[in-house]
Amino acid sequence: MPTLLVTGVTGLVGSRLLPRLIAAGHDCRALVRGDNTAPDGATAVRGDLNDPSTLPAAVEGVDAVVHLAALFRTDDEDAIWRANLDGTRNLLDAVASHAPDARVVMASTGNVYNHDQARPGLESDSCNPSAAYPASKVAAEALVRESGLTWSVLRLPFVYGDGDGHLASMGALAGRFGLHPAHTYSVAHHRDVAAAVLLALGGQLDGRIANVTDDAPVTVFEMARLGGSPIDGSAEPLTNPWAGRMDSSFLRSLGFRPSVATVWEAAAAGIL
Ligand SMILES: NC(=O)c1ccc[n+]([C@@H]2O[C@H](COP(=O)([O-])OP(=O)(O)OC[C@H]3O[C@@H](n4cnc5c(N)ncnc54)[C@H](OP(=O)(O)O)[C@@H]3O)[C@@H](O)[C@H]2O)c1
Repeated sequence: MPTLLVTGVTGLVGSRLLPRLIAAGHDCRALVRGDNTAPDGATAVRGDLNDPSTLPAAVEGVDAVVHLAALFRTDDEDAIWRANLDGTRNLLDAVASHAPDARVVMASTGNVYNHDQARPGLESDSCNPSAAYPASKVAAEALVRESGLTWSVLRLPFVYGDGDGHLASMGALAGRFGLHPAHTYSVAHHRDVAAAVLLALGGQLDGRIANVTDDAPVTVFEMARLGGSPIDGSAEPLTNPWAGRMDSSFLRSLGFRPSVATVWEAAAAGIL
């Protein structure tokens, strides 16, 4: 049974991905900080990405690392860079020294794409975001690509489902960031994030960056309504209708098909 180290297991994505990795037959170690515990079926390894001394024991003997841990729901830009760039560097150094044959799968974000894009973002686009979160992710991706390890990067869209409350937060997010109600995001259900991670763990994405999306981008207006926090609409024109959209043709060319095709299907199936 392959042994994995998964970081970020207490997060929105990790807490829903880990049970799926275990169900798929992986022996999972979960990197946890403080008093956090590992979800059922995983072995807790206490560690912090910003404390390199805790990482060798976490990676020793693993076949792969699924690196989800990140910081972005804060305005503290220094902390964002410390967690996302320094933390990733520390993890990669530990893997290079103690598990050099391990495959590294890193979660990145569709927020890396430039807001003036003239079509849905493609993996080959040059990305120069100015905000700390996407900029730190672009820098962390570069570390992964240049690590000399076996790697892949999954650029995740807005991830939702399994009662994670993410869609429910859209009303508040729209107010906080002044999002246009017609602004459209690519999205994916946790089930399909897991499917993409399993593809990456199987080696099919080695050396590649891959966008992950379902079949239908959704407006902020519709997300807020589906999440139970409706917002007012607007007939003002959008600055750029493509901002927030990702092209997942590459992943689809490898056979990936979202099992939850749209957020509407998720709503109908009761798995929002
Ligand atoms: N959720 C989405 O819609 C979405 C969209 C695009 C990309 N992503 C990417 O997916 C990944 C997971 O996102 P998420 O929404 O699950 O994030 P989240 O809910 O904010 O969870 C972040 C996780 O990272 C851990 N973490 C942060 N700093 C750490 C450190 N120094 N050492 C060890 N662990 C640390 C946290 O642990 P503690 O509990 O100890 O704080 C937590 O488990 C991120 O890489 C993110 O960029 C997510």
